[in-house]
Amino acid sequence: MNAKNLEEDGFAYGPIVLDHFQNPRNAGQMSEPDYVGEAGNPVCGDRMRLFLKMSDGKVTEARFLTFGCSVAIAASSILTELVQGRTVEELGAMRNSEIVDALGGLPKEKENCSVLAESALRSALAAKG
Ligand code: FES
Repeated sequence: MNAKNLEEDGFAYGPIVLDHFQNPRNAGQMSEPDYVGEAGNPVCGDRMRLFLKMSDGKVTEARFLTFGCSVAIAASSILTELVQGRTVEELGAMRNSEIVDALGGLPKEKENCSVLAESALRSALAAKG
């Protein structure tokens, strides 16, 4: 099991979560995306917007804007890496458990925060169709 670090919010996170929270990948806007999705957590009010660019039926670029907690930002960041090279069908098959696994696991109480990323992906796919 990975070493866990206690963060200011009182939860212990693994090194992958901390890395993606402190050094988020692919953060920011995207001009002329093929897919845009938005999701919010009704409990805390945190929000995420996801942008995808496709080429030859596969994701070639993903970016995000997230106003949220450390897990929401880490999940957004790692989602933009996980979607690279995937087809729309493969994106549709993605589940939150894959995001949680890629982050090296989350405290049970914070797993809901990572659902924001899955919801933004669903929203993006639904908006295009
Ligand atoms: Fe809102 Fe984590 S506290 S998504």
